[in-house]
Amino acid sequence: MNYRHAFHAGNFGDVLKHVVLLELLDALHRKPSPVHLLDTHAGIGLYDLAGDEAQRSGEYRFGVGAVLADMAAEKQLPRYVAALKRLNPELKPGGSGLRRYPGSPWLLADSLRPDDRLTLCELHPQDAEALKRNLAAEFGRDSAVAVHHRDGFEAIKALMPPTPRRGLALIDPAFEAKDEFEILSKAVLAAQQRWATGQLAVWYPIKDQKSIESWKSALAKALKSETLCIELTVRPAKDARQMSGSGLLVINPPWQLKETLAPMLEFLKSRLIRETGGGTRITTLVKAG
Ligand SMILES: C[S@@+](CC[C@H](N)C(=O)[O-])C[C@H]1O[C@@H](n2cnc3c(N)ncnc32)[C@H](O)[C@@H]1O
Repeated sequence: MNYRHAFHAGNFGDVLKHVVLLELLDALHRKPSPVHLLDTHAGIGLYDLAGDEAQRSGEYRFGVGAVLADMAAEKQLPRYVAALKRLNPELKPGGSGLRRYPGSPWLLADSLRPDDRLTLCELHPQDAEALKRNLAAEFGRDSAVAVHHRDGFEAIKALMPPTPRRGLALIDPAFEAKDEFEILSKAVLAAQQRWATGQLAVWYPIKDQKSIESWKSALAKALKSETLCIELTVRPAKDARQMSGSGLLVINPPWQLKETLAPMLEFLKSRLIRETGGGTRITTLVKAG
C-alpha cells in the first residue's frame, strides 16, 4: 500500500467529491430520522496543507486553492466553504488562512446529529491510527463513531445494511491495484444487493474517458437503482498515464440533486479547468425505476 492521500488532499478530485458529499449530507439531514454514514476508504481525516507531502505535490493549489481564490466561492459553494471555515477559523475571502484540509471523515463527523452513526474503514495501519487520533482531537471520543482498521471492500459485506438503515456510504478507493475498477464494480453491486435503499457515492479517477465509458456502461447494466454520474475533467481525458479528471456515481440520489449541483459545477468548471477540452457534466446512468 503505497498510496498516501496527504499528497492529494484538496486536489480537484477531492473538491468535486467533497462538494457533492456535503450536498448529499444536507439532503439526508432534511428529515429528522437518524442516519448511518459509512466511509469504506477513509484516509486520515485531516490534512496539513503546509506539510511536506502537500507542499511537495502542490496539488491543492489547483484544487481548493483555485476555488477559494475566487471571491464568489462562498456564495457559489456555501456548504463547502462553511466547512473549510469551521476547520480554518482564519480563512479569509480569497483563500488566505487555509492551512488544514478536511478529509471525508472530518466532513462526515462534523455533520453528525445526536442519533446518527458513523463507521470509518482504513486499511493502512498507520493511517488508521492517525485517523483515530485526528478525530478524537477534533471531536472528542464519541461512541457514535467507529474507526475500523480493515479492508473497506470486505466491510461492505460485513457491515451492510447498517443500523439505522437510512444513510450513505462513500466508496473512495486508492486505485492502486490493476483490477481496481473490477473490484469496485463487484463492491458496488454487493453494496446495492445488501442495502438497496442506501445512498452510495462512488469516486473514480478519469484518465482515458473511453475506458471509463465502457466501465460505466457495463456497471449500468447490473445496477437496479437510479444512478447519476457527476464528472469534472481539467483537460481532455485521453492519456492513460495521467489523471485528467474524476467522477462520482451517486446511486439512489436525493431529489433534485442534479438541479442543485448544476450551478456549482459551472463554478467549479470556471475555477478548475486547465486546458481546452476539460469540462463538467451530470448524466443519468440509470433512470429511476
Ligand atoms: C482516496 S484515499 C481516501 C480519501 C478520503 N475518502 C477523503 O475523501 O478524504 C483512499 C484511502 O484508502 C486506503 N485504502 C487502500 N486500500 C484500502 C482497502 N482495501 N480498504 C480500506 N482502505 C483502503 C488508503 O490507505 C487511503 O487512505
